[in-house]
Amino acid sequence: GEVSMNGYEHYMLKEIHEQPDSLRNAMRGRLNDEDATAVFGGLNLTPQQLRGVERIILTGCGTSWHSALVGEYMIEEFARIPVCVEYASELRYRNPPIENNTLVFGITQSGETADTLAALNETKRKGHRTLALCNVVGSSIAQAADGGIYLHAGPEIGVASTKAYSSQCCVLAMLSLYFGRMRHMSFESGGRIIEELRRLPAAVEQALTCDSEVRRIASKYAEASNVLYLGRRYNFPTALEGALKLKEISYIHAEGYPAAEMKHGPIALVDKHTPSVFIMPRGTTYDKVMSNMEEVKARGGPVIAVASHEEAQIRRIADEVIMIPEVPEFLQPIVSAIPLQLLSYHIAVLRGCDVDKPRNLAKSVTVE
Ligand code: AGP
Repeated sequence: GEVSMNGYEHYMLKEIHEQPDSLRNAMRGRLNDEDATAVFGGLNLTPQQLRGVERIILTGCGTSWHSALVGEYMIEEFARIPVCVEYASELRYRNPPIENNTLVFGITQSGETADTLAALNETKRKGHRTLALCNVVGSSIAQAADGGIYLHAGPEIGVASTKAYSSQCCVLAMLSLYFGRMRHMSFESGGRIIEELRRLPAAVEQALTCDSEVRRIASKYAEASNVLYLGRRYNFPTALEGALKLKEISYIHAEGYPAAEMKHGPIALVDKHTPSVFIMPRGTTYDKVMSNMEEVKARGGPVIAVASHEEAQIRRIADEVIMIPEVPEFLQPIVSAIPLQLLSYHIAVLRGCDVDKPRNLAKSVTVE
């Protein structure tokens, strides 16, 4: 039946605000304090098979491909298993060599994306174990895979993916904990990750309070024709995701880049009409991103910073600062996506775009 809008003006806005709950649902029953690990019921792999995994391939399209990039960083950091991320549409036709003991995960909200289904079937044909990380129960991809993990995010109606993205990142974090604890990760480190995951929904709730500030910023930049999104490490996929959200619902050209790559080309785009969004909560590369931001500012580009700490230096360089709560680096993609989702939402509304059903796009792409 119809999913209610619950008083919100658009499904997208409702789904953005549902994220504290959808994250709680992604974690429900999956965190085990006794063993300091995650629990998944449907992987259908023996402990020997799981411990024998030597490589993981994450594949998907669009936003699901972005969460795959986040998953790559998480799994390599916490489980130390080599990961490679492939666009499903490329994996299918590229025919890369895949060694034994490789797990292939298809990441998908709908479970109906033709390219992702075909990529999984192609790898399955060659004898590899395929798993689905999927939201829609009983969907084609959920059925085709050998096993998998459901996101439990509830129905996502808006064409722009929001809560499915955060749930994908959250499930990938639990997955890296799970694989990590089968390998080198200590009980203490596992317990700490569980604590950090439990605090995540409250952090997302706090991040959502930036809404009115973001709406104000949106009204200043709604006329832009080009926007750059920049971040490093875990915030690089976030930059790609922020740019995709803006493109698909507001029809403004946007590009996401690793902040340090700017100087190798895209900085030539910077002028006073081209705003740059720097995703820079405090972390390993914080000072580096600060100087990347300074370089953009020096060339006359308007700068919007998404930051976790009040600081005179950011206020001095950036024209706008959006504050988000501090979380550990691996969870930053989830929290920093919130203001970017809201920014594209408000800009699209101001431009009179059909937010939930943008032109030329379908919720699930069932053709190649
Ligand atoms: C996301 O905002 C897009 N609408 C799109 O990129 C989407 O993520 C992609 O088509 C993949 O869909 P799926 O997750 O249902 O497979």
